[in-house]
Amino acid sequence: MQLLRPPGGCGKRMIGLSLVLIGTLLAGGVFLAARGSSVFAETFGDYLGWKACAECHEDVASSWQKTRHALAFEHLKNDGKEGVPGCVRCHVVRFDEDGGFIDMDLTPELAGVQCESCHGPGKRHVADQEEGNNIVARPDMACCRQCHTPGQDAHFDYEKKVHRVHGP
Ligand code: HEC
Ligand code: HEC
Ligand code: HEC
Ligand code: HEC
Repeated sequence: MQLLRPPGGCGKRMIGLSLVLIGTLLAGGVFLAARGSSVFAETFGDYLGWKACAECHEDVASSWQKTRHALAFEHLKNDGKEGVPGCVRCHVVRFDEDGGFIDMDLTPELAGVQCESCHGPGKRHVADQEEGNNIVARPDMACCRQCHTPGQDAHFDYEKKVHRVHGP
């Protein structure tokens, strides 16, 4: 269970998942298929969408709604690029992960750059906030750099921009 906790950054689950899979391989390849699929089932559904966060973090949620992150998917639509995976991946919650954005029919609640794009999957935190636990508390520069790449945003300045993630 510990291995599945977000290790930091944006709380990418894949690292934990790989560790579990490696461990499983070491423990005995025979059970790989069965163990692997139960890990998958556990990861799926861990991203809830910002409305789940707004229940308790109303102020942050309402000021985040005024940011460009919140409008990131709308801006893709305006360009007619909402169906292009190479564009979508940086304009939604976790397009590259189990439980992340798929498309507007299946996962409309995960469109836009939301809380969980930076803080990682929120399901466990929502179920138990003991000392603000079970969530990435301070997403670091590596988290931002997954989307604010040198190609997309050559002059990205973490220290300057981090103060604007929740809005003005
Ligand atoms: C049921 C209420 C509740 C919900 C829903 C909730 N939170 Fe929290 N959250 C809390 C409480 C309580 C704290 C602890 C506040 C404190 O320590 O001052 C907290 C703390 C945090 C922290 C700071 C953690 C730290 O260690 O300082 C972050 C980040 C956070 N929440 C993000 C989220 C996100 C993202 C979501 C949606 C996926 C979410 N929360 C949903 C109640 C909630
Ligand atoms: C999932 C991808 C993703 C992540 C992670 C991400 N961003 Fe962004 N960010 C975007 C996109 C896409 C936009 C542009 C949205 C639009 O205008 O359509 C943007 C816009 C911004 C803007 C407003 C435009 C600007 O450049 O001034 C700020 C500020 C910003 N991001 C800061 C951050 C910071 C700080 C982090 C890390 C803590 C971060 N972002 C993490 C994708 C991301
Ligand atoms: C590697 C991540 C990434 C990919 C892939 C990506 N974007 Fe973005 N996009 C960003 C970031 C970060 C910003 C904000 C930085 C900035 O404003 O320069 C942004 C800003 C935008 C904006 C708002 C700012 C503007 O220029 O009007 C639009 C619209 C946009 N992207 C459309 C697209 C389209 C269309 C594609 C696919 C061709 C795409 N993006 C692919 C990360 C990405
Ligand atoms: C672009 C990345 C990004 C997004 C989107 C984002 N956050 Fe944060 N959040 C951060 C960073 C970075 C910090 C740490 C800020 C600091 O320490 O200066 C933080 C801190 C927090 C904290 C603890 C400190 C505080 O300011 O209260 C809470 C709670 C929180 N975020 C909740 C949310 C919720 C809820 C959402 C969505 C409505 C959200 N965040 C969206 C990056 C983000």
